[in-house]
Amino acid sequence: MGLAVAGLGTAVPEERLTNADLEAVLDTSDDWIVERTGIRERRVAAPGEDAATLAVAAGAAAIKDAGLTPADIDLLVVATCTPVQAMPATAALVQDALGLSCGAFDLAAACSGFVYGLVAAAGMAPDRPALVIGAETLTRITDPDDRGTRILFGDGAGAAVLAPSPLADRGLLSWDLGCDGSVASLLEIPAGRRFIEMEGREVFRRAVRIVVESAAVALERAGLTAAEVDLFVPHQANVRIIEACGTRMGIGAERTAVNLDRYGNTSAASIPIALAEAAEEGRLNDGDIVLLSGFGAGMTWASAVLRWEGRS
Ligand code: UT7
Repeated sequence: MGLAVAGLGTAVPEERLTNADLEAVLDTSDDWIVERTGIRERRVAAPGEDAATLAVAAGAAAIKDAGLTPADIDLLVVATCTPVQAMPATAALVQDALGLSCGAFDLAAACSGFVYGLVAAAGMAPDRPALVIGAETLTRITDPDDRGTRILFGDGAGAAVLAPSPLADRGLLSWDLGCDGSVASLLEIPAGRRFIEMEGREVFRRAVRIVVESAAVALERAGLTAAEVDLFVPHQANVRIIEACGTRMGIGAERTAVNLDRYGNTSAASIPIALAEAAEEGRLNDGDIVLLSGFGAGMTWASAVLRWEGRS
């Protein structure tokens, strides 16, 4: 049996932070941000909202979308680099609020976290429904005075229910996970500090190479080529990174999901939010080949290839 995406859900805060808002408080401009990143606005969590509340809303929507109940879920993975508190795991808070009775843990692989979570769930619960959520409040770990990072990051959550498909050829076909801790300092919050520190240009350069290589490995393991990909859902960090990857892989904009103009970079939440929006827009059909690929702090990377299971 294949393990397919049976339901999707998202949750983003109401409050929008536009480029015009940032122009008013930082030495930056709408033109610069749009041209260099493609981002036009991001969402900002309200007081009382956090990675757990966003995860709960997205997770509940995904369970409902799958036509399941909380009692059906056998594993919860919450991918986040903005946990609500150091202990316990955010997954414990989410499990309780959703009324789940299953194993639950956090996964720390930054922006690659959701795809890492899919692979972990596929290995740990291959024949039972699992809930994988990416949930972040990155605006709370971004220096409000740093124009190099504040323009990029936003808050939100995306969730997927993975469930065994009656069709053996549907679901997760292959993956590639990686990490190069020798460049951990390119994107980090050093111990004792509050905010993200990033060498943006170097992260950019490596990201393009990493995504192209990792996607190629995952596709090869599935016996597929980039030409056969119906929808490429990359981590939403910078539209220039996405376009450079697409050009190198020969995957054009018509086969690529991009929504960072509205949310910025939401780290582990970016791929599931983009996937859910693509499904909502009718861009995913039964049998489609879907390529997910993320990269982030670590540096980590993760790609997964799925054959989409359409639902009537
Ligand atoms: O999930 C993974 C997370 N991180 C990423 O994916 C980040 C990847 N990197 C990037 O997206 C890009 O490197 C950035 C958007 C962060 C920066 O764009 P860039 O084209 O690489 O610009 P740069 O860092 O080379 O800076 C070019 C100039 C610099 O000025 P000088 O030295 O040429 O005078 C910066 O100080 O742009 C300046 N700059 C800005 N100007 C206006 C940097 N940030 C801003 C800003 N507004 N917000």
